[in-house]
Amino acid sequence: MGMMATENLDIARLRADTPGCAGKLTHLNNAGASLKPRPVLDAVARHLALEEEVGGYEAAAAAAGSVSGFYDSVAKLINADPSEIAYVDSATRGWHIALMSLDLKPGDEILTSRAEYNAHMISFRHAEDRLATKTILVPDTADGSIDCEALERLVTRRTRLISLSHVPTNDAIVQPAAEVGRIAAAHGIAYLLDACQSAGQMPIDVSEIGCTMLTATGRKYLRGPRGTGFLWVDRRWHDRLVPHTLDIRSAQWTEVDRFEIVEGAGRYELWESNVAAQIGLGAAADYAIRQSVDLTWERIGNLAALARQRIADLPGFTVHDRGSVKSGIITFSWANGSAAEIVGWLRREHAINTSVSAVQLTRTDLLKKGVTHLVRVSVHAFNTEQEVERLASALELLATGDGGQRPDSLAHAEDIQIKQWEN
Ligand SMILES: Cc1ncc(COP(=O)(O)O)c(C=O)c1O
Repeated sequence: MGMMATENLDIARLRADTPGCAGKLTHLNNAGASLKPRPVLDAVARHLALEEEVGGYEAAAAAAGSVSGFYDSVAKLINADPSEIAYVDSATRGWHIALMSLDLKPGDEILTSRAEYNAHMISFRHAEDRLATKTILVPDTADGSIDCEALERLVTRRTRLISLSHVPTNDAIVQPAAEVGRIAAAHGIAYLLDACQSAGQMPIDVSEIGCTMLTATGRKYLRGPRGTGFLWVDRRWHDRLVPHTLDIRSAQWTEVDRFEIVEGAGRYELWESNVAAQIGLGAAADYAIRQSVDLTWERIGNLAALARQRIADLPGFTVHDRGSVKSGIITFSWANGSAAEIVGWLRREHAINTSVSAVQLTRTDLLKKGVTHLVRVSVHAFNTEQEVERLASALELLATGDGGQRPDSLAHAEDIQIKQWEN
């Protein structure tokens, strides 16, 4: 199962395209920031060089085709219309633009999952304090995903928004996004899907999912530049979702006392932007499409299942992943060392990149699991079975070396200053 499709993905080619794969590094932190493929690096470098050569504004004019290509490419990735895409500098920025365009009023209710991303939870609490809105956490089903029946029962006439992280930052769960979409549509409620961890990893079709707004970041499974992202807003909602912040990109000053908000998702953008990075994100979307997101998803599933099994088999190690459909994220803890120590040790001693998922990232979710920190391993299609084995062998040293005791080298792990949370 899955092998046929995997054979169709040219892994050697994927790796040859990726300068970061050329050395000793084993990069298993793709849910943090992936390694960029050459076409993305080249697109960014080319535009920066052009800016040096002819000037920033002049370079943007000369690259107008590549800039408009960004909208086409991202739209194609999620089966949308280019006029529905806004370029933003992070997923969180796009997400806040979407949230604030709802013009929330006191008493408005927001339904969200227990595994919602930290920044969203903070914003919901902030909205409660400032706007007197109400946030309701929908219960999970036994597999940890959002309970759609409970969600529908919680809908009231005050429900203004359903907000869901498609793939949480610290669990393998793939949420039933389309089922949630059917509930949102049946009740005419705005539905904001955070596709930060799913864009580029798995096929996304906004019309199938039935969301109203979708946000994603560039640097993760899409393999784009840092400081990039996009917001998609269903064009049927543009008039109802009026942006909170306007400038000369999103509106036109037509008379001294009048302005007009522009048509299309340009209304959610600001004039100034990192053009090289935007072109780079367009190149990343093209690259993802060229490799086939379907095959990428299948390959990631196979590699993640292998990694999950190898780690679960190690004595003293606990895999915490839930979800009946699982993503490329694998989370685990070890009885004899902290997540930061393990991540630091893997980086320093084995050149293996993983990351720490801390309680600060999804407090509601992690505390329920009875842990405060997890090691997060996240595989992409360019990773190999050998790399997974390299990780498993390294962890095996912890599990069995010195009778499962902490090796001396682990004690220095704090030296490299692993942040306590890296999203
Ligand atoms: C599920 C999820 N949502 C949102 C974000 C935020 O993305 P950004 O850092 O681009 O704002 C992340 C980043 O880790 C994430 O994992």
